[in-house]
Amino acid sequence: MVRSLFTLLIAAAVQIDARATGRNAVVVDSSSVASSDYDYIIAGGGLAGLTIADLKVLVVEAGPFDGQEDGVLVPGDYNPSPYFWYNTISAPIAGLLNQVFFVIAGKVVGGGSTINAMFLHRPAAEEMASWEALGAKGWGYSDLLPYWKKSETFSPPNAAYAAAHNISYQDSIHGTSGPIHSSYAEYDYPGGANFWTAGLSIGQKKAKDINNGDAVGLFNLLRALNPKTGTRSYARTEHYDRVKATRPNYSILPSTLVSKVLFKNKKAIGVEILDPATNIKKNVTAKREVVVSAGGVFTPQILQLSGVGPKALLQSLGIPVVVDLPGVGQNFQDQSSLAINYNYTNPIMPNTDSLVNNVTYRAEQEAIYNATRKGALTLCASTANQAIAFSLQNATTDYASIIAYAKAQKPSDIYPNGTHPTVLAGYAAQRQQQYAQLASPGSPIASVFWNTGSTTTIYMLRPLSRGTINIVAPDVTVPVSLDFRTLSDDTDLKMTLAMFAKNREIMKQPSMKVLGPTELTPANGATNPAVVETALRGSIQPSNAHQCCTTPMMKLEYGGVLANDLTVYGTSNLSVAGVSTFPLTVGSAPSSTLYAAAEKAADLIKKRNGT
Ligand SMILES: Cc1cc2nc3c(=O)[nH]c(=O)nc-3n(C[C@H](O)[C@H](O)[C@H](O)COP(=O)(O)OP(=O)(O)OC[C@H]3O[C@@H](n4cnc5c(N)ncnc54)[C@H](O)[C@@H]3O)c2cc1C
Ligand SMILES: *[C@@H]1O[C@H](CO)[C@@H](O)[C@H](O)[C@H]1NC(C)=O
Ligand SMILES: *[C@@H]1O[C@H](CO)[C@@H](O)[C@H](O)[C@H]1NC(C)=O
Ligand SMILES: *[C@@H]1O[C@H](CO)[C@@H](O)[C@H](O)[C@H]1NC(C)=O
Ligand SMILES: *[C@@H]1O[C@H](CO)[C@@H](O)[C@H](O)[C@H]1NC(C)=O
Ligand SMILES: *[C@@H]1O[C@H](CO)[C@@H](O)[C@H](O)[C@H]1NC(C)=O
Ligand SMILES: *[C@@H]1O[C@H](CO)[C@@H](O)[C@H](O)[C@H]1NC(C)=O
Ligand SMILES: *[C@@H]1O[C@H](CO)[C@@H](O)[C@H](O)[C@H]1NC(C)=O
Ligand SMILES: *[C@@H]1O[C@H](CO)[C@@H](O)[C@H](O)[C@H]1NC(C)=O
Ligand SMILES: *[C@@H]1O[C@H](CO)[C@@H](O)[C@H](O)[C@H]1NC(C)=O
Repeated sequence: MVRSLFTLLIAAAVQIDARATGRNAVVVDSSSVASSDYDYIIAGGGLAGLTIADLKVLVVEAGPFDGQEDGVLVPGDYNPSPYFWYNTISAPIAGLLNQVFFVIAGKVVGGGSTINAMFLHRPAAEEMASWEALGAKGWGYSDLLPYWKKSETFSPPNAAYAAAHNISYQDSIHGTSGPIHSSYAEYDYPGGANFWTAGLSIGQKKAKDINNGDAVGLFNLLRALNPKTGTRSYARTEHYDRVKATRPNYSILPSTLVSKVLFKNKKAIGVEILDPATNIKKNVTAKREVVVSAGGVFTPQILQLSGVGPKALLQSLGIPVVVDLPGVGQNFQDQSSLAINYNYTNPIMPNTDSLVNNVTYRAEQEAIYNATRKGALTLCASTANQAIAFSLQNATTDYASIIAYAKAQKPSDIYPNGTHPTVLAGYAAQRQQQYAQLASPGSPIASVFWNTGSTTTIYMLRPLSRGTINIVAPDVTVPVSLDFRTLSDDTDLKMTLAMFAKNREIMKQPSMKVLGPTELTPANGATNPAVVETALRGSIQPSNAHQCCTTPMMKLEYGGVLANDLTVYGTSNLSVAGVSTFPLTVGSAPSSTLYAAAEKAADLIKKRNGT
């Protein structure tokens, strides 16, 4: 039983060399890999990398296979920390009182999809129209709609349950037979209804389907949850395990770094890999194309190490310049968040805290989960179901003055001195798009989630600030210099303050007031603006692990790195896939759009290679 032995070995997260003798995909090791030949090499076996691996490929992934443990598979047992990269600490962030932060990203087969919070949430159609205006033609909402459908199997909720829980969805925008399962958890903490009612009482409307391109209003979270098994549906299970028995042409090399892309002139011919266990480097050849899909942080690192990036940076490190692309690693965006904690005189039980605090409740829920694959353990830990996405107009009556303030900022004052003129030109063009989005009732700037227990979280979705990612040595094992530059445009602080006030308004509505909330951290109920501002600067998290946009698909004169077919300007046989390709961050969460974008990427790659 070769197959079960194979599965067992993977389950033990052991790196093995199962040479291609049959019809299976193979897990290779770095000693055998160089002698094989591949059409395609995918650098980074994360969400996008595994999704496009529908080719004769070698996937090289820095992290191991996960062990199929509960911390990965059972949403309520969520435990991502074994699979984080731990190598990168940010530069001090001036806007956040000079604090530094660990950079959170997945280092595991499946990348972020293995350890993320499972939310499937598409952006507004008008945000994607902005991508197109910046150079990503063919990546609008309607262009991606067939790929969203192709990427997912949507299981509608039970009709009576949906009606009782205000779940609203449109079958027409969802897929019925794609690899990734999407569903609503059929368990609701009772407090969720109070939050929903508070949302209605401040005048917000229920979204028809938050994923239909009109992305504001009240909604229930759609999750990457297999409703039959109650487990996470992700790139490793759906784009590797599901196909491995029938894919002899699919090789994967875990726990190995791609240290650079190899070029002959400007043509990518393969990659150099580094086995961190032995420190041995090797070259592996790709006959048709190298696809870099190492995520928002590491894709620009690999390109810069390979001589594709800002010329001055490369020259200062003695790296031969293959193509001078000033935009690589610039245009860095993420979504900051702010957690606000409460104490209640009349908490509503059970809530997400009960799973941790109440052993009786935990045992009850485990028994339900074990017997039916339903219950509280189908919700990713400490998340409830309800959320509200706000346009700026619905966040604050001050919206016109915030937009005026944004328009008065100079792009060159936001970026570091010396930023390349094309990067500044692209940023100026992005800001024009963003002003229109800020003025629009259909573009979300933030979303608010109450976990039904101690914590409300505000996610800021439309930052005007920009960060940078630059290598500091010609060596893949040396962490990059990563500067979030959160709140480098004060407009972002103004928007966060507006959302903080909006959340206070939510908590004052009758349905939330019944809990008897006392606001604790970060501001302890303070109303003095200077006190509130300092409290926020001290507690905003710069990242929701949605690092993006660092090799953007934009016009070259805008500091773009990729043409609208994902190929790298100035090179041949080299492309990029994944979250680094977005011109602007999505006003939602990236993974749903990434699955669709990777399906489109696979089509583009096959088309240009005639396969
Ligand atoms: C903790 C967490 C929670 C999140 N929650 C959500 C959520 O609820 N909803 C949502 O939509 N999104 C969420 N995200 C974000 C989402 O998962 C990512 O945006 C997405 O995974 C990015 O896909 P990608 O393929 O571009 O990159 P990744 O999925 O990050 O894949 C990149 C891969 O490349 C590998 N790699 C990097 N460098 C090298 C190298 N030199 N050589 C070889 N391999 C390399 C990495 O190890 C990684 O596996 C979350 C992310 C995290 C980390
Ligand atoms: C990969 O293998 C599968 C199964 O044998 C086959 O259908 C597919 O065409 C192959 N793809 C390539 C690019 O060789
Ligand atoms: C559903 O919406 C109604 C109002 O339309 C509200 O009374 C009820 O509490 C909500 N329930 C949930 C679970 O959101
Ligand atoms: C939300 O925005 C829309 C469009 O601008 C407006 O008509 C509506 O009154 C706003 N509602 C609230 C509660 O702010
Ligand atoms: C890998 O390729 C590069 C460039 O083509 C070459 O300089 C280098 O020596 C090769 N390394 C090995 C280990 O073959
Ligand atoms: C990549 O290079 C090969 C060999 O030189 C060539 O046949 C192929 O067409 C190239 N692919 C693309 C997309 O240019
Ligand atoms: C929270 O409330 C409880 C009971 O109402 C009280 O005992 C406790 O001291 C409060 N905690 C804080 C941090 O205010
Ligand atoms: C703990 O959970 C049990 C079972 O659901 C419940 O009966 C009990 O009231 C809970 N205890 C507290 C303190 O909430
Ligand atoms: C549920 O199943 C898990 C894993 O099989 C087991 O560890 C746990 O004890 C079970 N819980 C209950 C309450 O049956
Ligand atoms: C950037 O340049 C401006 C004006 O040229 C100067 O005032 C400012 O101090 C510089 N900032 C840094 C960080 O060097």
